Amino acid sequence: MSILFLADLAAEELGIWTQALRASLPDDDILAWTGDAACAPAAKVQAGVTVAIVANPPPGRLARLPGLRLVQSAWAGVDALLADPALPAVPLARLVDPQLAADMAEAVLGHVLALHRQMPAYRAQQARGVWQPLAQPRMAERRVGVLGMGEMGQASAALLAQVGFDVVGWSRRPREPLPGVAMASGADGLDHVLGTAQILVNLLPLTPQTQGLLGAGAFARMPRGAGLVNAGRGGHVVVPDLIAALDAGQIGHAVLDVFTVEPLPASDPLWRRDDVTITPHVAAPTDPRSAARAIAANISRWRAGEALVGLVDRGTGY
Ligand SMILES: NC(=O)c1ccc[n+]([C@@H]2O[C@H](COP(=O)([O-])OP(=O)(O)OC[C@H]3O[C@@H](n4cnc5c(N)ncnc54)[C@H](OP(=O)(O)O)[C@@H]3O)[C@@H](O)[C@H]2O)c1
Repeated sequence: MSILFLADLAAEELGIWTQALRASLPDDDILAWTGDAACAPAAKVQAGVTVAIVANPPPGRLARLPGLRLVQSAWAGVDALLADPALPAVPLARLVDPQLAADMAEAVLGHVLALHRQMPAYRAQQARGVWQPLAQPRMAERRVGVLGMGEMGQASAALLAQVGFDVVGWSRRPREPLPGVAMASGADGLDHVLGTAQILVNLLPLTPQTQGLLGAGAFARMPRGAGLVNAGRGGHVVVPDLIAALDAGQIGHAVLDVFTVEPLPASDPLWRRDDVTITPHVAAPTDPRSAARAIAANISRWRAGEALVGLVDRGTGY
């Protein structure tokens, strides 16, 4: 089968991906097409492509593949893909890779522990040479809310509960509780999570419903001085509202891994705030080795007529 890896990646990364995909799909013909339009495969080759594996494909590029029957994303989030009006109406699967979820859980645990142990406050005290112990709640007394109970949210919530935090997760539809994780859903559930979470972790997909969810209204409902960890998408946070909430002390500290414009411009005032921790979209980077195996398994399922893992519902946007 002719499979096209359509990616806008640096040459080295493209090479690593192509090699990993060829190793995981040894019986298929894997072609790579970078962001450079001038490097397009011949029209006859493009016509033979049935599956496209995509990583930041330039908008409109998929529409040039007349034989396309499946699009498999190399990323967990598909908001940028769905924003392409020329995206063909074929099944679209997002990446579901247990390694990615485990990596996200590790990152979330690290940030939540740092907020729980008041590292930003101690760092501020250190800068002023202040020796001042702060009251320290136990983990079991610290409510952590996790927005999004998908692959990323479940793994993160489960790990937070395992180490001893009081965890509540929020999803669109009601879900069965996980060990140590209470569940909430819908608008009432969001009120409950926002109203009680001293640390809020965002792992929602970016959809028309979740865009701008973390704005003034949400911050006002949170306990005063709450911590925020955003590893979902930049578009979830209304940045001017976050800055106002930080200035007012309503949000104590924000850890931001994702931004509407990446890289975050050097001129952005967020860089210079002590009450903001910035990481460059590294909470859970896709590992081409494990991702290629997960992608190959999904393509095998599709070939066998089985249900795809991570099939995107275009109605809900995730
Ligand atoms: N920073 C990074 O390095 C990084 C890495 C990977 C992923 N991500 C981000 O993480 C996001 C989540 O990934 P995932 O694989 O966990 O996605 P997923 O498996 O599709 O899970 C999405 C979760 O969000 C919930 N949800 C969606 N819309 C909602 C709404 N309107 N109200 C309430 N809950 C809603 C879903 O509810 P239901 O359970 O009811 O469907 C589900 O629990 C990605 O889209 C991406 O933006 C970031």
